[in-house]
Amino acid sequence: MAMRIISRNFINRLPKNTQNFSTSTKLYAASVLNKYEFIKAEKAGEKQNVGLVTLNRPKALNALCQQLITELNDAMEKFDLDESIGALVLTGSEKAFAAGADIKEMASNTFAGNLKGSFLQNWSDISKIRKPIIAAVNGYALGGGCEIAMMCDIIYAGDKAKFGQPEIIIGTIPGSGGTQRLTKAIGKSKAMEMVLTGNQITAQEAEKFGLVSKIFPADQLINEAVKLGEKIAANSQLSVALAKEAVNKAFELSLQEGLNFERRMFQATFALDDQKEGMSAFIEKRPPKFKNN
Ligand code: CAA
Repeated sequence: MAMRIISRNFINRLPKNTQNFSTSTKLYAASVLNKYEFIKAEKAGEKQNVGLVTLNRPKALNALCQQLITELNDAMEKFDLDESIGALVLTGSEKAFAAGADIKEMASNTFAGNLKGSFLQNWSDISKIRKPIIAAVNGYALGGGCEIAMMCDIIYAGDKAKFGQPEIIIGTIPGSGGTQRLTKAIGKSKAMEMVLTGNQITAQEAEKFGLVSKIFPADQLINEAVKLGEKIAANSQLSVALAKEAVNKAFELSLQEGLNFERRMFQATFALDDQKEGMSAFIEKRPPKFKNN
């Protein structure tokens, strides 16, 4: 059954008279107050241990207006703090994962205004989430949509998905990682071609170029992404967080620095109960029971 996420912090922020209600009333109150306008956030998977966030602004093909980004960051951060959640899935609709930044909202922006408001800075908050995020991309992932998908850790695509950085066609350039993450993912020549022409690539091309790890029929995509999330969530959350951090260092550090970081993290896992449990379980030929300690 789908459940709306309720964080302890959220309940603590409720008005005092609401906090004094019985637990069920509190949850109901939080559930109503926590309703998002442009996204849906629910728990998924057999053990309800996957946080599923769905971009839900169909009239604008999930164009990323400021409010949507604020809601998305809020839901991601809540799932990141929720100990019952081991992995996140971010998806959109069958027609569009997201068609980019909201052109109508930003068309009249000025440079001074962008600078004062640090326009786009909070978009990369997703890359600070410590739990693994799987982007399940159906339909268009354009501009900021492609960039948000690339901030996730793994991209699964529906067979009709399209990826592109079309900003050049509207007189601007990618602003949230398109020139950087795309280049690291598919190499300079292909990234240049996409960024300088605005040409889109298909799911099949994206898989061949290494942007996407697997393709599924559109109607099976979310299930497959949740299944992957469940598989990751079965591991120790702490080891998973360290592994994610170590892989991401490969994009920032020299090889020697990266190898040193990885070795130190590996050594540190021996301070975890979960390492003792994982190795004991192997030796005793039984499945591990991780407690995230
Ligand atoms: N911003 C605001 N509204 C958008 C939008 C966007 N990025 N993309 C689509 N929409 C709106 C359309 O204006 C339209 O609204 P109305 O019905 O009110 O006119 C509705 O969504 C449906 O769109 P279309 O009629 O255009 O649908 P289509 O199927 O004919 O075309 C599309 C789909 C190819 C995705 C086309 O909508 C399109 O090219 N969208 C813009 C893509 C784009 O340029 N993205 C980059 C934005 S800049 C950016 O993202 C900067 C950054 O790096 C952060």
